[in-house]
Amino acid sequence: MATTALGPLERFRAQPVSEATLPTGLTLAVVHLPGDRFAIVAGTCPHAAGPLAQGDLIDGMLVCPVHGWAFDPTTGATPMHPYVRIACFESLVQDGQLFIVIPDPVSVPLPCGEHGQGPPVQAGHP
Ligand code: FES
Repeated sequence: MATTALGPLERFRAQPVSEATLPTGLTLAVVHLPGDRFAIVAGTCPHAAGPLAQGDLIDGMLVCPVHGWAFDPTTGATPMHPYVRIACFESLVQDGQLFIVIPDPVSVPLPCGEHGQGPPVQAGHP
């Protein structure tokens, strides 16, 4: 797990939805929630790549400015499509700064068939 500072808290308290960019270039939308909590989500809408950080917070939902898809900033879910979800990241407040918590990469075992230790993986195999 790693943390990266996104900026001073006051910047993210100034409006309901703000933009932040990671050093990798990934754009994020930071949502200021009731209770002075922050939700950090991917900044690109999965519908047609709209800029979610330029969206509005309406009734607790982050609304994309392009076609109006709404996302729950705490879960990433949208009522527009049952299988679509935006990435959500944990936030951390420390020393007047907002940090994003980036989880460790998930380790996935490689199929063993290519190394002679099991059957080859078939196309379409889960
Ligand atoms: S691009 Fe976001 S709703 Fe279409």
